Amino acid sequence: MTASTEHTSPEDLEQIRRDALAQLQSVSDEASAEEFRIKYLGAKGIVKKIFKGMKSIAPEERKAFGARANTLRTVIEEAFKEAPWMQKSTGTAPHSFDPTLPGFPFPRGSLHPLMQIRNEIRDIFISMGFDVAHGPEVESDWYNFEALNFAPHHPARDMQDTFTISDNVVLRTHTSPVQIRVMEKQQPPVRCIMPGRVYRNEEVSARSYCLFHQVEGLYVDENVSFADLKGTLLAFARRFFDEKTHIKIRPSYFPFTEPSVEVDVECFLCKGAGCSVCKKSGWLEILGAGMVHPNVFASAGVDPEKYTGFAFGMGIERIAMLKCGIDDIRLFFENDVRFLNQF
Ligand code: PHE
Repeated sequence: MTASTEHTSPEDLEQIRRDALAQLQSVSDEASAEEFRIKYLGAKGIVKKIFKGMKSIAPEERKAFGARANTLRTVIEEAFKEAPWMQKSTGTAPHSFDPTLPGFPFPRGSLHPLMQIRNEIRDIFISMGFDVAHGPEVESDWYNFEALNFAPHHPARDMQDTFTISDNVVLRTHTSPVQIRVMEKQQPPVRCIMPGRVYRNEEVSARSYCLFHQVEGLYVDENVSFADLKGTLLAFARRFFDEKTHIKIRPSYFPFTEPSVEVDVECFLCKGAGCSVCKKSGWLEILGAGMVHPNVFASAGVDPEKYTGFAFGMGIERIAMLKCGIDDIRLFFENDVRFLNQF
């Protein structure tokens, strides 16, 4: 065969393929690789000439020939790229590395929205002089309930559906047990927040999930009053939501605080006028709180005659949903990047 003749037969194409692959075996350095490239794939190379010769082929045969020629070109190009010498010398072979090309974009991760909100809450309390403490997620019945003034058969235990690990061992249902652990280690004054995961055996829906996150707060010293609780939570709400926001305090019940309250903030979307997020009430419930019960101090070895204190607990998912307009709690746990990318 000669590639320079006008017409190349199918047999010629096959011969060219064999010659090219055989010659590739002896490509062993930059010079022989370049020689091969010019001979077969260059602007005046064999492959180009085959395509040029197509003009002289009868129209009814041209299509089938074109397909064969295309296949040949692909085979030679691929074999050239894959040749053993090219593999070894990536970076030095001609045209294999262009240092002026832009690099591949490197996708950057970001903090999960729940962690962003947790950090915001944490940083506000740190700036007010609070420390941060953590406790275990697998907790004993004593820390999760009894030390917090839930009597063994107290009906208040039914308030929370609990995952039980074994006799007297549970997945903590709130972060309040960390209050006891902190006070056991440290006599007042105590100023501490305790963020973490909690678990409840609830039916999964758009509004509730079997695990979620809370931030617990505890302030214990001589002469701590309910006014300190109000002032601290108002300062927090004004830093976190809006500097002019108001809070509303309603009586409630928790076994470990007396008195117990629930705290609402003015709806930051409608500024109290009433909208769908606050269900037309103008207020959003964000946390439970109260003055630490003397029995809790006694469980933790703190003198209830000498010290008083307040505690509070807020759910991070709920606050994140309100702040970011998220209407399904399950989104936080599905790790769908289309959701996470938005934060
Ligand atoms: N532990 C309570 C809950 O999970 C919240 C709370 C914490 C209430 C501290 C009062 C004081 O609902």
